[in-house]
Amino acid sequence: MVCLGNICRSPLAEGILRSKIDPERVEVDSAGTAGYHIGEAPDRRSVAVARKNNIDISNLRGRQFEVMDFDRFDRIYVMDQSNYDNVIRMARNKDDRKKVMLILNLNNPRSDKEVPDPYYGGAEGFDKVYQMLDEACDIIASGIE
Ligand code: 4NP
Repeated sequence: MVCLGNICRSPLAEGILRSKIDPERVEVDSAGTAGYHIGEAPDRRSVAVARKNNIDISNLRGRQFEVMDFDRFDRIYVMDQSNYDNVIRMARNKDDRKKVMLILNLNNPRSDKEVPDPYYGGAEGFDKVYQMLDEACDIIASGIE
């Protein structure tokens, strides 16, 4: 799960997907394309909306996306077009590029919708982001079973 800062959207996506899969079988992680928040806990508004839904993401820490992630993961879900462009720019070949997908294309195929960056808004933005990611993660989890 990849966003810009790895403190709002992608840690939430990581926590939601973790809650729906078998950790013995599936590795889930998140990262930001930027390095502003390396080592930081998720934004308190993401922690709050997760907690409201019985998911604890308070122990996650920000990290930056790196080329090795193309080797570690089979699928790389990005939140918006800018994340997509930044990750694609780091891809080494066609196999790397094939792994990268806008996460909301799961909910609405080929719509190229973005998970809006909730950082500068209020708590309602985080609720909306939660709902979108929850639907996407249901689709990911059902594809894994
Ligand atoms: P995120 O949100 O990409 O969903 O983690 C942001 C967090 C921080 C910043 C931008 C977006 N920032 O500019 O610091």
